[in-house]
Parts: sequence; structure tokens; C-alpha cells
Amino acid sequence: MTNDRFECKYGYFSDNGREYVITRPDTPKPWVNVIANERYGATISQAGGGFSWLDHSTLGVLTRWEMDLVRDAWGKWLYLKDEETGELWSAAPQPTRAKLDHYECRHGIGYTVITTQAHGIEVEWTITVPTDAAMELWRVRIRNLGVKPRKISVCSHFMWCLGAAPDSKREFHRLFIDSAYEDGLITARKCLWEVPDEKYGHWNTNWPHVAFHAVWQPGAGVPASVAGAGDHQYFLGRHGDFSAPAWLGADERESGGFGRLTDGIAALAATIELAPKEATDLMFALGAVEENGSPREALEPFSDTNAMDRVLADVEKAWAEKLEAVHVETPDPAFNLLNNTWLMYQAIAARLWGRTGYWQQSGAFGFRDQLQDSQVFLPSDPARCLKQLRLHARHQFADGTVYHWWHPLSEVGLRTEMTDDLLWLPFVMISYLKETADFDALDLAEPFVDDDNAVTIWEHGVRAIERVLVRFSDRGLPLIGEGDWNDGLSAAGMHGKGESIWLGHFLYGVLCDWSDLATQRGESERAAEWTARADALRVAINTHGWDGDWYLRATLDDGSPLGSASCKEGRIFLNAQTWSIISGTADEERANQVLDAAEEHLLREYGPLLFTPAYSTPDARVGYLTRYAPAVRENGGVYTHAAIWAIQAACKLGRAETAWSAFSRLAPPNRGRKPDHYAVEPYVTPGNIEGPESPGFGRGGWTWYTGSAAWLRRICLEWILGVRPEYDGLRVAPCLPAEWESAQITRPFRGDLFEITFEGSGSGDWEIEVDGELHDAGQPIAASGEKRVRKVLVRARRPVSPGARQ
Ligand code: GLC
Repeated sequence: MTNDRFECKYGYFSDNGREYVITRPDTPKPWVNVIANERYGATISQAGGGFSWLDHSTLGVLTRWEMDLVRDAWGKWLYLKDEETGELWSAAPQPTRAKLDHYECRHGIGYTVITTQAHGIEVEWTITVPTDAAMELWRVRIRNLGVKPRKISVCSHFMWCLGAAPDSKREFHRLFIDSAYEDGLITARKCLWEVPDEKYGHWNTNWPHVAFHAVWQPGAGVPASVAGAGDHQYFLGRHGDFSAPAWLGADERESGGFGRLTDGIAALAATIELAPKEATDLMFALGAVEENGSPREALEPFSDTNAMDRVLADVEKAWAEKLEAVHVETPDPAFNLLNNTWLMYQAIAARLWGRTGYWQQSGAFGFRDQLQDSQVFLPSDPARCLKQLRLHARHQFADGTVYHWWHPLSEVGLRTEMTDDLLWLPFVMISYLKETADFDALDLAEPFVDDDNAVTIWEHGVRAIERVLVRFSDRGLPLIGEGDWNDGLSAAGMHGKGESIWLGHFLYGVLCDWSDLATQRGESERAAEWTARADALRVAINTHGWDGDWYLRATLDDGSPLGSASCKEGRIFLNAQTWSIISGTADEERANQVLDAAEEHLLREYGPLLFTPAYSTPDARVGYLTRYAPAVRENGGVYTHAAIWAIQAACKLGRAETAWSAFSRLAPPNRGRKPDHYAVEPYVTPGNIEGPESPGFGRGGWTWYTGSAAWLRRICLEWILGVRPEYDGLRVAPCLPAEWESAQITRPFRGDLFEITFEGSGSGDWEIEVDGELHDAGQPIAASGEKRVRKVLVRARRPVSPGARQ
């Protein structure tokens, strides 16, 4: 079972789980990879579509792309032409959609390889992004499969964007591009950038880079026969088509189309001769240097014969360091694949670095979003989480409020009346402190957006909490404002009256944690005040927020309830139940009662719904979530980010069966067993799975760019395997599916390396041995302070019946 490769009609996971191999190009949706380093990145679909960016996936886009997931018809193309017969096709299915004799696409960790065969030629196209250069490299390995010599042209093509995307007003934007060609190298600049310039005003500035596209033969420089095209019409021909560009079709090709008065594209065609069975490599690069930089210098380190192998080995090593720090071995292959490889890769490449996917091209930082995502670094590299905390602290205002999101580069942001954003800073800080016990970090200083005087992270947290504490209703509940975690509840409290029960739960947890910190810092008055506020809040929630069988989600400005049995649509909301358990606002009886309710009404075939029933018509009093098609995204679908918190809540109550069933129902490799039904990639989490009111009940959407990846990993490790950091050490309190006989996890913790083995399953009574000595299972295991390997054996004392409550 552990070797299950989840083989389906369209592909399978490779044996070590580090690649997803797509075996036919007609996947129901684009199945993509997001290949990135901290500055540069590229998306690529199984058909060859996608785009590339530098620093920002909307403001710093190198190549044009249009979000059309059906046609998937924008990308960086690679054509092949037989110069003797004139036959023309492409290395990937797009853009010629020529008949292929063989096709395979391997999406790996930091690279993609598309291999195709047609017309007796095999092309293996490997695309990667070096760990520390602002470019992507393509190795194109061309093999003559036949017994006759062949003369083949290989021609790249893409359109320049060079700045903000989409440049839909192309006739305007093209007037600012300047390109040049010399000896296998195209360079391009754009002298207008849609980013405000402090000195000269809006648009009145250059995109501050020189983009380049180059071709060479490894170790042998520019191919003998090469030409470049720089203009859209020069390449395609009037009324031309990407499936048969005129320039490539011609018998002779001359370089041309460069300069100012063009519609900037880049195409490089190299002609090579191949003896029977011979194979040869061509290298292409696409990237950018600073305005006064030299592309040739940037390319120099990659010119030798071994460059690509070296780059690929470095990429593999850099990812392996990240991915292998924590390792799980369990009887469930989906759990292993997700936790050992794909969730962390997704969270880092797409959410934190690229901040993009095929379903959303963003580039902005969401105040709450990337803070939550940065928790993915906690077990292995917590300093990166702290770096994110500091970045977000700098995007808080002195009155405690924050940008809902902001764009790096432009620093343009949206300051809203969203009421929870600011609290994620103290929340994630607690996670960081539990992992590291680095309490000094609270004294690091950062300025505010509107005040250069730096204050401590502690003070940033205090201002966030204090700000929320003044936004309360007369009944002692926090106001929902323009939305809390759920952006789509955008109108519920616009007029300052609507209340949020979920925010109440969330705030309660933050208040409890931060009053402990206040005590520790000797701020006893503040600690007492926050404790009193927390106690009062808990009472208010349990009085005014209780609907009889479950918690309400919110009240609207007009006082009417949201998430009540009295509502026709939106009767019961998941977060309002799960967070009462996670934060501890519900007592044990209510906690089990609301989980029962969530299980009964919300836990459906493909995971827990965000709420039910979905809204069938827009309700302007609630907000834009009611405007989504019923059962899609935040309108009553399985909104994966939130669905995952149900796993934590169930584990916290020791309800292993509920937790496991929520996990298994939404786990992408499992969903991918019916790929035509599920539609999206089986190797990354989707933002949502459509709910029961949709004719596509069970169909995934919004993959890659979702906050669910980091959370799913955290909850699998900390709640299903139950290995969670606390101030005093590592607690081990698993909640394992009944069918597991044994499992292992290895993870670093404060300098030690913990190797933990579980024997038996369930959530009940565990006997724990640490380094051969019996350990009190009720206590966390303290770090040794000596950087040791710690062997922990966790044995079920007696089998616990699945679903048994503690
Ligand atoms: C989107 C937002 C996130 C929000 C969620 C639920 O994913 O980016 O911040 O919490 O939707 O509305």
C-alpha cells in the first residue's frame, strides 16, 4: 500500500513521490507546476502554457499570459521544424497541438520535464529555475530516432510583458518596449511601469530591468545557425496563427523585428543537424538583470557542458534540505506524499515565493495569508517564519490596524475594516514561540507603515489586540466589520453593528496566550485585564452566540443571525464550531455537541463544507460570498483552508475517526482517483471542492494558490501524529486512524532530532518512552540542549475504539 502511486488515467506519482508524471496531455484542467526561487518564477502546465515573473507575479511579469484555463493557449513555446520536409510541430502539445507519438510531463520539485516524440524526433524539454539566479533555464535535448540524417530547427517563442500584467491595452503598452538582438541573445526593456514613482509620479518610470532570452550549445557557445525575431507580426505574419508562424515556415530566416516600433516578442531559432540516432542539447535562458546589468555576464556561469546538471542538482539539494528535515512514514500513502513533499513545496513555491498559481495571479502579500503560510517553516527553519512576522509587523499602522493586503515593489495596500487580519500577527507569534522558545524575538523592533519609530514585536501584538478589544458590541461580542477570516462576509457588519462569533473564538485563544506572555513579561495588570476580557468573552459567546445545537456564525447589522437553525440558507457554519474547540471557548460537552452537529450537517463526501445550505441568490446584507455560484468557493463548498481546521478540532477531542475521515475525503491524491470528476491536480491542495448544490459536486478548483497547504501539513503533523511544540517541550499526543499499526515521524526541535515511532492507533492511552526511559505521557518532552537524537516510542496501552472520546 505504501508504494501506491495513485495511478490514474492521466498519470501517477513517481516511486519516491517527488514527481508527478502526466502521461497524456488532455487533463481535465491545466495540471501545472510553480517553479520558483525567492525572486524568480515560472508556471508551466502539462500542455506547455504558463508565464514567468521577477519579484512580483503581477507587477514584474516577463511574459504575456491570459487566464484561460480551457484553451491554456498562452505560454513560452518551443517549435520544431524539419527543414527538409517543412513539417512543423511543438515540443509540448501547445501551441501546434500536433499529433504526438509519445508524450510525458514530469512535474518535479523545482523543475518540469516534457518529453514528446513526433516525426521521428524525440524532444526532452527540461525547465528549471536556479536557486539563486533571476532566470529560468531550458535544456532541450533533441534525439534523432530514425536511420536518416535530419536537419531540424528548434524555435522558442513568447511575448514580452515586462511589468504589470495583464497588459490588455497592448497597443498602448507595446509602445514602451525596446528590444535588441545580437548573436543568439535578445534583450528587452520597457520604459513605462505601472508602479507609482515617488519622485516622478505615476507610470513615469522604467521597469528597472533588462530582460533577456538566449540560446547556446552547452560548452560550444552560440549555435552556428541562429536567428532572432522580435515583433509579433514579423514572427506570425499578418493574420498569422501560433500553430504555423510565418517566420518559421519560411525557407530562410533573417533576424528582425527588434527596436522601439514593434510589438515585442522573443523568438530564437537554431538549426541543427542530427546523424541517425544522434542526440544533442540546446540551452535556452529567459530572465532579467538590473537596468545597468549585463545579461551575458549573468549567463556566463551557465555556459559550460555540465551547467544544467549542476543547476538541477543544486535545485534538488536545496529542496531536499527543506523537505527532508521532517519525514513521516505511515501506512497511508496520501498522507506520506503530501507531508513529505507536496504540501511544503506548494506552500513555499506558490504561496510564499511566487504568490501565484494558474487560478490566481497575485504577487501581493495578504496580511493574514502569508503569515499563516509561513508556519510551514516552523519545524525546520523557524527563522523564516520570524522574518515573515517582521515583514508583516512593518505593514501595521500605529493604531494597530493593518493592510488587508499590500503589493511589494509598489507598497500600495488596502487598509480595510476587516476585523481579524491584525490578530494573525499575535497568533503566529505564539506558534513561533512554542516552536523555538525564542522569547527575545518579542523585543525585536519594527516600525509601522505610518510611523518610523520602531516598537517591539510585543508592542505590535499589543496594539493589534487592543484595537480588536475596542471594536465590541454592547453584548460583549467582537464586531465583524467588513469581514473576518471569511472575506466574503463583506457586508455583515459594514455599519458597525454586526458581530462575529468566529472572531470571538479566535480572539479568546489569542487573549489567553498573550495574557500568559504578559505575565511572563511582568505586565501583571495587562495580564489580568486580558484574562478578564477573555472570561467575559467566553460567557458572551456561550450566551449570545449559542443557537441551541451549535454556535451562530455572526449577527448582521440588522441584528439577524447568520448560521442559525432559523436560517433557510447558511444555517450552520464550520468555523464557528471548529474554533470553539480549537480555542477552548466551548466546554467539553458543547465541544462534542458542536462537532456532532458539524459531522452531521457539514461533513460530506468530499470533506467538511464551509457552511450549508449554500446561498442560491445574492444577499446584499451578508456580502459577496452569497454572490458566488452556489456551492463554489466560500458559498458553501468545501473551502479547504477551513475544512482542515475540522481535522484539528476532531483530534483535539480525540475523535480519530472523524479526523481521519475529514482528511481522507479531501486529500488530493485520493480525490485524484476519479480524475475526470475531480478535474484538478492530485498533487497539490485545491482552494475548494464544490459542494452538494453544484452539478459538479466534488470538483476541485483554485489549486496551488491556497492557504490550505501549510495548514494541512501543520495539522497532520501536530494533531494527527500529535507531535506539537509547547513552551516546555514537544508534546506527543497522537490521534491516529484505527487501521494504522505503526507510524514514524522524524522532526527537529530546538537542536534535537526527534525520531518518534508509534505503535498502535487511536487517541487514548499512550505509553511513552524517551531514550529508553518511561516518560509521563501528560508532559511534553523537553529539548536536551545538547543537539541529540532523541528516540521516542509511543505505544497504545490498549486499543481504543475508533471515535472514542477522551
Ligand atoms: C481567501 C483569502 C483569505 C481568506 C479566505 C476566506 O483565500 O485570501 O485571506 O481568509 O479567502 O475568505
